[in-house]
Amino acid sequence: MEEKVSVWTSNRFWRRSATWVTGVASVLLIFLTFDSMAQMKMGSAKDIEKKIDRRIPSPVVINYTIDYKLDPYRGHEIPIIGGEMRRPEGGIKSAYEKKEKFFGRDDYSEKEARELIHKGKLTIQAKNCMDCHTLLGNGAYYAPDLTKAWLDPTWETLAPAYNGKEYAIAAFLQDPPKMAMHERKMPNLGITKEEAKAVVAYLKFMSAIDTNGFPRNFGKIKGAVDARK
Ligand code: HEC
Repeated sequence: MEEKVSVWTSNRFWRRSATWVTGVASVLLIFLTFDSMAQMKMGSAKDIEKKIDRRIPSPVVINYTIDYKLDPYRGHEIPIIGGEMRRPEGGIKSAYEKKEKFFGRDDYSEKEARELIHKGKLTIQAKNCMDCHTLLGNGAYYAPDLTKAWLDPTWETLAPAYNGKEYAIAAFLQDPPKMAMHERKMPNLGITKEEAKAVVAYLKFMSAIDTNGFPRNFGKIKGAVDARK
C-alpha cells in the first residue's frame, strides 16, 4: 500500500507557495509604489483653481486660510483650505476660496511661494530642527510636533498683539526664549528675519498637507501647562 504523504511535509508544495507569494507580493509592491508616487505628487495652482484636492497641495496655499476640521465622511481631521464646502458624497472638503494675507500679501505666484517654502525647508535642514521636533513623522519628540504647528491655537491668541499670526510665529523663531510658552524652552538658533518668514511659509504649507489626520486631534489639546501664566 502506498504511504500517504501530508501536503504540509511536501517540498513541492512549499517551493510552489514561496514562488507564488514572492510573485504576488512583487506585483503588489510595484502597484503600491506607483500609487504612492501619484499621492505624493505636489499639486499645482491650476488644481486649486479647479478645486481639485491633492494630498500635497500647491505652494500657493499660503495665500489661503487653512483650518483643520473633522470630516465625518473620512472619520478624521483634514486640512480645510480657503473655507469649507460640502463633499458631494458626504462630509466636507476645501472650498479654495477664502484668502488671507500672509506677511501683507495674498497674491504669491506659484514660483514665489515655491521659492519661499524651499528656503524655509533649507533653513529647517540647516538648523536641524528635527533634533527636537517632528515633521511629517520624522524627527524627535523633545519638542512639539511641527506638522500642524501653524494651526496651534496659541498663535491665534498672540496674533492681535503681533498684527497677524505669521508675524507672531516669525517673532518667536527669531528669539524663542523671549516668547517662551512652555517650561521646556527652545534655544535661540540665530534665525534671521528672512529665514523666519520662509520657515513660517513652510509651516503653513505643511499644515495644509493631508496626512490622514496625523497627528490626531491637533488643536484640541486644552489644559496643557502654559508657562506664560
Ligand atoms: C534644542 C531643541 C530644539 C531645536 C533644535 C528647535 N526647537 Fe523649536 N521648540 C523647542 C521647544 C522645547 C519648544 C517649546 C518651547 C515653548 O513653547 O516655549 C519649541 C517650540 C517651537 C515652535 C512652537 C510650536 C507650536 O506648536 O506652537 C515652533 C514653530 C518651533 N519650535 C520651530 C522650530 C524650528 C523651525 C526649528 C529649526 C529652525 C526649531 N524649532 C528647532 C525645541 C527646539
